[in-house]
Amino acid sequence: MPAIVIVGAQWGDEGKGKATDHLGSRVDYVVKFNGGNNAGHTVVIGDEKYALHLLPSGILTPGCTPVIGNGVVVDLDVLFHEIDGLEARGTDTSRLKVSANAHVIADYNRTLDKVAERFLGSRKIGTTGRGIGPTYADKMNRIGIRIQDLFDEKILAQKVEGALELKTQILTKVYNRRAPSVDQTVEELLSHADRLAPYVCDTTLLLGEALDRGETVLLEAGQATLLDVDHGTYPFVTSSSATAGGACTGSGIPPTRIDQVIAIVKAYTTRVGEGPFPTELHDESGDFLRNTGAEFGTTTGRPRRCGWYDAVIARYAARVNGVTDFVLTKLDVLTGLEQIPVCVAYDVDGERYDEMPANQSAFHHAVPVYEYFPGWSEDISGARALADLPANAQAYVKALEEISGARMSVVGVGPEREQAVVLHPLR
Ligand code: GDP
Ligand code: IMO
Ligand code: MG
Repeated sequence: MPAIVIVGAQWGDEGKGKATDHLGSRVDYVVKFNGGNNAGHTVVIGDEKYALHLLPSGILTPGCTPVIGNGVVVDLDVLFHEIDGLEARGTDTSRLKVSANAHVIADYNRTLDKVAERFLGSRKIGTTGRGIGPTYADKMNRIGIRIQDLFDEKILAQKVEGALELKTQILTKVYNRRAPSVDQTVEELLSHADRLAPYVCDTTLLLGEALDRGETVLLEAGQATLLDVDHGTYPFVTSSSATAGGACTGSGIPPTRIDQVIAIVKAYTTRVGEGPFPTELHDESGDFLRNTGAEFGTTTGRPRRCGWYDAVIARYAARVNGVTDFVLTKLDVLTGLEQIPVCVAYDVDGERYDEMPANQSAFHHAVPVYEYFPGWSEDISGARALADLPANAQAYVKALEEISGARMSVVGVGPEREQAVVLHPLR
């Protein structure tokens, strides 16, 4: 069986966790391939609500093997805290596998993330402060600490010393902070080694062999297309590859084995942190979406910025990810609106853009060109087939499908696992 990729189409929090969980029972492996505990995925199963940050959403599905791939950055305190939390609630986490090549978030990188943001002032990115950016920077600078380094004390000490050579200067002289201690850092990282050991393996080999046996692998992105370091709204992005291409580098699964790319897209748009957002609403409509959609961050609790659906973004996501299916989430949140604006193009200083402007300044100045669709007032949370939706809701879904660049296969009508209208079964 081939591999499937799930990505976010917008700026994150589209409902990837729910979609992964939804597919969980039909796949053998769920792999997190990028990001770290900057992600926050909420999964609701019956009366139970789970907030996952570092663990792949497949951890909640019995029989499914969750994998932290080589492209992830791992905060070991968070990892074990999350494992303990799930075990306390009766979830078996023993199947978890962690790539020996994944990078580790050291304490000095958490510090650097926070002080760098403060230093940037009004130019800040609005990061989650989890040390994600500095840890990926170390990876690219070839001074990162990897999971496998924790099993060789001598090598670990050398690497921490090497990483701190320049960082100590920066932390003390630029940011006026205390110098991190090599010994303390090494000790802290080593303290996790024994507990970590049983989970660690060559995940590339594990997944390659699974695919050879005909098993199904789901590659689950953290963040989203417009937060991707290459294809997102740079510099207001995260520091990893959150698009479908990142699934290959972040897992070691080659592109020839992937045959389905599912993008999760919200029926409106949200964003956390700084950066351009053409359809953002600063009025009571924005408050309506935020309050009705409970748009407050799973990771930082920050209120999410809210705006209307942006089809230019959806088309862009369809193109750069090679999307085969969209899962449209949170349609229920729009219930009660008289009419629903949808951005179909941008106006930039009098020029119409049907595609994402290549130039950052143009995107910053983009003014949405809206089309308006009639709303509905019926409760749709119990709908399970397209015909269960009011005519206007059906028309809204069909209109989005036409302008978004791929078919709408599933429509979310509530946070719970089964609250979905299936138009085309994903598996
Ligand atoms: P992720 O980061 O992409 O996994 O998304 P988050 O979990 O951060 O945010 C999505 C939120 O929307 C979660 O609280 C989900 O429980 C919720 N959710 C997902 N799908 C739906 C839906 O179709 N309707 C409603 N009302 N909530 C949904
Ligand atoms: P999920 O997986 C929404 C945003 C941050 C900030 C920028 C950079 O739940 O969709 P970072 O800490 O990654 O260096 O922050 O990226 N960001 C997210 N926004 N959902 C996420 O994850 C995010 N992960 C990072 O708010 O603007
Ligand atoms: Mg989230």
